[in-house]
Amino acid sequence: MEFPFDVDALFPERITVLDQHLRPPARRPGTTTPARVDLQQQIMTIVDELGKASAKAQHLPAPITSALRMQSNRHVIYVLKDTSARPAGKGAIIGFLKVGYKKLFVLDDREAHNEVEPLCILDFYIHESVQRHGHGRELFQYMLQVPEIDLKGSSPRSSKRPCSMPHNWSIFLCIPLPGSQLPASMLLLPPPAPKLPLFLQKERVEPHQLAIDRPSPKLLKFLNKHYNLETTVPQVNNFVIFEGFFAHQHQGPRVLTGPAGTIPLPQNPGGA
Ligand code: ACO
Repeated sequence: MEFPFDVDALFPERITVLDQHLRPPARRPGTTTPARVDLQQQIMTIVDELGKASAKAQHLPAPITSALRMQSNRHVIYVLKDTSARPAGKGAIIGFLKVGYKKLFVLDDREAHNEVEPLCILDFYIHESVQRHGHGRELFQYMLQVPEIDLKGSSPRSSKRPCSMPHNWSIFLCIPLPGSQLPASMLLLPPPAPKLPLFLQKERVEPHQLAIDRPSPKLLKFLNKHYNLETTVPQVNNFVIFEGFFAHQHQGPRVLTGPAGTIPLPQNPGGA
């Protein structure tokens, strides 16, 4: 998706993480900096256009993602830009993934109601021209924060690495002060965690811990193909959870009552 402003300068990284503040990321040194308010307006335009395109692709009556909705919810959007082509010198956006924690009431396989607050997949869109090119997976993997380090060297990225030390790790040589009894040592440190909005810095999430808001048939196929998510636990709301959801909740879900239907189900708070 192209825009009448320079997307490439607006988003210096391939993936940009935006929260409710829709703050423009720091620009590359040497890039001219328009007024901050203009940059935020550009971000709002991108979010609005992505939301519209996603709604159209899913045949929804109205967008569930917009700048206004972003600003009034604690959701996070991962935006993927096209780093290969720069049509008209302004860059392009490939797609986005929107997530957020939500309090939900879900049924387990014994049909007991559970109050949980999982990370939810709320909206997901890759431009029609580049679907099925692995971009969706790239965004999803980034969101899950699963490092794609293959020490066996079978992936194209890792096969170029000269040694078996994971990409981006740092070596520190610790030399003791004169007179100290301590031996010199080497320290191997992982890269710092990417800067994520505070509320997403909780923990890494496994795919089966996620709840998906009204997944489209394409997304169900995507989840099955890339994450082996197939067997769902039937729900009475729009969210889909998969086998393993309850086994992997970090804090045991709170069981509210017995079999489904014995008490009226509370509404799930908030829409996407
Ligand atoms: N038909 C069937 N399966 C598809 C299709 C399709 N048209 N497109 C993607 N997939 C699934 C398949 O499993 C596919 O593997 P295959 O090509 O070997 O069959 C796999 O996704 C491809 O993986 P990626 O290339 O990483 O996925 P992509 O970049 O296409 O992104 C996404 C997936 C986001 C679902 C994209 O296809 C899209 O934007 N679809 C339209 C909008 C949509 O349905 N969004 C999800 C809404 S539901 C929600 O957000 C909670």
